[in-house]
Amino acid sequence: MNAVVLLGPPGAGKGTVAEVLVARGFRHVSTGDLLREQIRLGTPLGVEAQALMDQGQFVPDDTVVGMIRDLITGENGSRFLFDGFPRTLVQAEKLDELIDSIQGTIDSVLLLECPDEVIVRRLGGRRTCAKCGAVYHMAFNPPSAGEYCDVDGCGLSQRPDDKEETIRERLKVYKEQTAPLVEYYEARNLVHPVDASMRIEEVRQAVLQLMA
Ligand code: AP5
Repeated sequence: MNAVVLLGPPGAGKGTVAEVLVARGFRHVSTGDLLREQIRLGTPLGVEAQALMDQGQFVPDDTVVGMIRDLITGENGSRFLFDGFPRTLVQAEKLDELIDSIQGTIDSVLLLECPDEVIVRRLGGRRTCAKCGAVYHMAFNPPSAGEYCDVDGCGLSQRPDDKEETIRERLKVYKEQTAPLVEYYEARNLVHPVDASMRIEEVRQAVLQLMA
């Protein structure tokens, strides 16, 4: 098993970039999406996660590490794209242990860099399809008609944690708890910075060049 980690603040465009890498054979694993699925199903894990996510706080390390362990166990031949995981030093160390245990490697860490004010604009305009998960932006990547998904025609909605106050809290938590991972992976020469403030197509091209 080998893996690429997508690192970057909320709204930098990790999910948007993931789409082009999925088209190149990566298995996309977003811990945010996995947690929102638990919320949708109304599981105890989902109930606990929702309270934290709505306030812009992280879900406990053991919870997300457990989800990742379940997913990658027995998947020795896959190429994983981790999006939003790891997010703390504890999670990064646990991921190393899990990957070592199946003789896998982390090949690369793509660091999407983007200023806070650009992020606030991006997340404020984000709309998501609850059915298929497609992500739009009402100004930068709009659906073709109204607020309906191009893929399945379902109504689009705004994520509860995309309110400005919660976005600012998520940025603060990112700087405190996730930004130190850059140094962690730089020590192993794995980090490839990407200017994620460019237009969507330019960011995607930059990422594809790095992965070529
Ligand atoms: P998660 O769902 O992972 O959210 P996030 O990291 O905050 O990232 P986002 O999904 O908000 O943004 P993105 O970078 O994917 O941007 P996107 O491509 O959508 O996590 C949510 C919560 O779950 C966390 O706060 C935490 O509570 C919990 N959680 C998750 N993982 C956890 C973990 N490992 N440990 C503990 N807790 C965890 O783009 C954003 C918008 O901008 C879109 O509208 C898009 O169309 C637009 N856009 C994208 N790129 C561009 C561009 N280049 N130009 C213009 N617009 C663009």
